[in-house]
Amino acid sequence: MNSLFIKKPFLQIITINLLLIFLIPLQLRAQTYARNGMVSSSSMIASEVGRDILKQGGNAIDAAVATAFALAVTWPSAGNIGGGGFLVFMNDKAEVTTIDFREKAPINASSTMFLDQHGNIFNDSNHTGGLSIGVPGTVAGLYLAHQKYGKLRWEEVVQPAVDLANNGFPFTWTLYHHSIEFKKYYAESLPEFSKFMLEEDGSFREPGKLWKQTDLGASLERIRDHGRDGFYKGKTAKLLAEYIQEEGGIITEEDLLKYEAIERKPVVGKYRGYDIYSMPPPSSGGVTMIEMLNILEHFNLQDLGFNSADYIHVLSEAMRRGYASRAEYLGDPDFNPDMPLDKLLTKSYAKKLAASIDMKKASVSDSTKYGQLYDGENTTHLSVLDKDGNAVSLTYTLENSYGCKLIAKNLGFLLNNEMGDFNPVPGITKTDGQIGTNANQVASEKRMLSSMTPTIIAKDGKVYMVIGSPGGRTIINSVMQAILNVLDHKMDIKTAIEAGKIHHQWLPDQVIYEELGISSDTKKMLESMGHKFRSVENIGALMGIVYDRKKGIMAGAADSSSGDGGVAVY
Ligand code: GLY
Repeated sequence: MNSLFIKKPFLQIITINLLLIFLIPLQLRAQTYARNGMVSSSSMIASEVGRDILKQGGNAIDAAVATAFALAVTWPSAGNIGGGGFLVFMNDKAEVTTIDFREKAPINASSTMFLDQHGNIFNDSNHTGGLSIGVPGTVAGLYLAHQKYGKLRWEEVVQPAVDLANNGFPFTWTLYHHSIEFKKYYAESLPEFSKFMLEEDGSFREPGKLWKQTDLGASLERIRDHGRDGFYKGKTAKLLAEYIQEEGGIITEEDLLKYEAIERKPVVGKYRGYDIYSMPPPSSGGVTMIEMLNILEHFNLQDLGFNSADYIHVLSEAMRRGYASRAEYLGDPDFNPDMPLDKLLTKSYAKKLAASIDMKKASVSDSTKYGQLYDGENTTHLSVLDKDGNAVSLTYTLENSYGCKLIAKNLGFLLNNEMGDFNPVPGITKTDGQIGTNANQVASEKRMLSSMTPTIIAKDGKVYMVIGSPGGRTIINSVMQAILNVLDHKMDIKTAIEAGKIHHQWLPDQVIYEELGISSDTKKMLESMGHKFRSVENIGALMGIVYDRKKGIMAGAADSSSGDGGVAVY
């Protein structure tokens, strides 16, 4: 019953071949090692930028900032300067902090801004077009992190991205495949976007050929030369506000000027002797994950066995309970001062929830209360560890893949559609996915709830693991399962990241699973207990590092589902 399937088909083929020559351990342990520094991200070129910054004497913050700017050039589906995200930083003295650079609703936003006269959402306006754009936070967040905790000069960490944009980088096969889709599907509805990665004559750009983005290069130069003001004031701010308004949006220059990233205390949990540091609201990630880990501590997961029927049952039941709390309570803390975080994070609350799990049958999610939250599935994560043991876990996003697919005119960067992460219709909750609870309704200058879960785990006051993932609502569960795989199932980081994952989010009441992740007899046992299933090809794209401090060895991995991803080391 207990089976560790490798989820990606090509890996499966390789694994079968290696099985024949008795080399399975080598394949399963194809993690990357280093002693002095490591960067794992969804673009190998961007990881190398971060690695080079570490080599030049930069610390983990410098490397993370440089990698994030580089991803805005080389991984435009989610790497960005037109979106937002979260960063968790632990220094070598075990001090942990976080930077919230989540997008904000514009000043003129209101709880009914997406509704027509009948109270229905018009034209999918919370996900497409100018109204769906939240005030971007990435540049302010990276700038704040660097000003407070970086070592190198700002220009030094931004310059590599400027060079990648102006001088070009080899176009990748992943981008090539995306460009084919865009030309096919968006030629009529979004003509500028459909040409985004094509040659000037409209032909496809060949993989390996340099791709230059000079408008983006000029925007990055202004950021390099003027810091946050190079984005939120002056030419960029003026052109950006004008363009968004041309597209029907309501973001003004004042919105851009007023945007501030916020330093917040991390949420902290303890799991089997390890300290878990993760992102507080407005991300739901840290609170929900710690609540679920506290529930799972009541079960001997190692004895249940990886992806056994009992293990998946317990996992799904913990997820059901964690995501129910998420839907009911969580939103922007500056607008929800009464969120019961103290209750949700306590061991005593988790004990009650653990006791409510029946090991023989699935519970039923109460669909009369709250529904699922909509989150985009295309975000990106990077993990960094430097030679002094400073670590950064950073997740940021445009919400959907390539955001709202509007490219700021003459500025060369894509804009988010993060307004879709708010509850769009006040008071109306449907089991098909729309929720209307107060905590996450749109309001002027409010931050929308997120699932991003950048996390650092420490043992005895030192970094042990750095982990995060894209994947919308699935992020929290992906990150948690990677942690369980390392801490409970004793997997190395590569195996932990690749191993088949599941996802339950309370409503809809179903277990989503990677199709090669659990066996059919395990699934049948779970169905007889009342669980319903839906298969997907893939869940998440984890980027992780584990540090064996005694041996002085860093081990890292990038999820193979992230086409261009990789770990760069020195
Ligand atoms: N837009 C995805 C998230 O914030 O969770």
